[in-house]
Amino acid sequence: MKLKIMNNYEELSEEAANIITERIKEKPSLALGVAAGSTPLLLYKKLGERCQRGEVDFSCVRVFCLDVYIGLLPTDPHSFRRSMEENLFSRVNLKKEHINLMDGMAVDIAAECARYDDAVKAVGGLDFLVLGIGTNAHIGFNEPDEVFVADTHVVELSEATRTANARFFENPDDTPSWAISMGIKDIMMTSEVMLMASGASKTEAVYKAVCGDITPFAPASVLQLHRNAHFYLDKAAASRIPEELIKEK
Ligand code: GLP
Repeated sequence: MKLKIMNNYEELSEEAANIITERIKEKPSLALGVAAGSTPLLLYKKLGERCQRGEVDFSCVRVFCLDVYIGLLPTDPHSFRRSMEENLFSRVNLKKEHINLMDGMAVDIAAECARYDDAVKAVGGLDFLVLGIGTNAHIGFNEPDEVFVADTHVVELSEATRTANARFFENPDDTPSWAISMGIKDIMMTSEVMLMASGASKTEAVYKAVCGDITPFAPASVLQLHRNAHFYLDKAAASRIPEELIKEK
């Protein structure tokens, strides 16, 4: 695991955009995993601007979303589909057929999870994955639990996650309780992982992920075992990581 500490959210997002631009230049058909949530929003905006200026070309990129809520229509303003559409897909020249998302309205959710794993397998696994981190150290919607779940699966969201995500809903009680998430296997099999975290609300989660035990109770800690995981942090998110460790990494 490598740490990159930037002064602020703007620098963090710029650096993240640089890396993704580079990776797409190296491999135009990059299989790119993307997280919803607020942390990568400026990154997505920057990628959109770069694409419009002709500095990056998404025409062959395949994207895979990390997670979706169960029970929200893709058109629902709170659905991750809609948010990814508005914040990334509509801003870059991605082909529709290259967009992969779970269907949170599927009648047979188990079959939908299996279909998604097959789709990731069919492209040979992900090349690059953008991750955020929950305040409870979740990645995707892999919530703290007694075990790591390998495959794409159904998750009952923890109270901490529902509370954190209630900010996106007019009525907090409308925050969904269930989601589908990519599992730890696809995350760990990805060639390169970039976890982004910004702000003091993530300090504790980042500390657990970087310095704590590797445990499913802090799912992001599993990235300590990843061969090519980079944590892109601003100063506030990194503030509990000891200085020696920052130098070392
Ligand atoms: C959400 C999503 C994650 C996201 C995380 C952090 O619930 N399932 O994919 O990375 O929580 O979100 P944010 O960046 O808004 O803090």
